[in-house]
Amino acid sequence: MIDIHTHILPEIDDGSKSLENSIEQVKFMAKNGVTDIVCTPHFIRNYWHNTAEIISEKFKQLQKAVKDENIKLHQGCEVYLDENSLQTIQNQKLNIGNTNYVLVETMMTEFPVNLFDILYQLVKANFKPILAHPERYLPIIANFELAENFMFRDIYLQVNAGSLFGKYGKKSQKTAFKMIDYGFAHFVASDNHCRNFHYPLPAAFEVISNQFDEYTANLLTQVNPAKMLQNENIPIFYLEK
Ligand SMILES: [Fe+2]
Repeated sequence: MIDIHTHILPEIDDGSKSLENSIEQVKFMAKNGVTDIVCTPHFIRNYWHNTAEIISEKFKQLQKAVKDENIKLHQGCEVYLDENSLQTIQNQKLNIGNTNYVLVETMMTEFPVNLFDILYQLVKANFKPILAHPERYLPIIANFELAENFMFRDIYLQVNAGSLFGKYGKKSQKTAFKMIDYGFAHFVASDNHCRNFHYPLPAAFEVISNQFDEYTANLLTQVNPAKMLQNENIPIFYLEK
């Protein structure tokens, strides 16, 4: 499995609290069948203002510390969108590795009025935005069709593994399953904040295999993430329902 959303870099956001914590988590993930981890610390302007330089320093530190583990790290970021996101992503190279894919998030309670404008700026500049945890946003919980609206705008959708087990409440859980059912999910990832060892990705693989099929579990945790790391195109629409 390839985990494309983690807060595993030490002391940079609300994720891992120390290098030791990060190393433990990397080893734990390797033991649990993860071959590749994308490190995606938050970028929130003027709050967790993690420039590429800051991220890269932490990334190299962790990479060096786990070089003997059978697991590969990739540098990325989770960008909290605002009207200057395009410029920041370009200047700071906040995309995932050398790919055009970029992990983004926005306000949970309501969408900013200019959200689709901001995303369109990214798409026009040839980025491939991946919206983190759509099942957690209240506007999507309230209006499920909105998820598809993102797809019509060339935005990929990444469901959190923990949502499938009710980590963020019953409504997010229901929305997460529905998204997979309707083909409104391109990735399932952990969003691991390294606060405990309840690492949900292997269990998510199992539950998707059981409730849907192994093909889908593989698609969301392995096939699409591998394509993403190779900067290959991933079909936005893959299921007709
Ligand atoms: Fe996150």
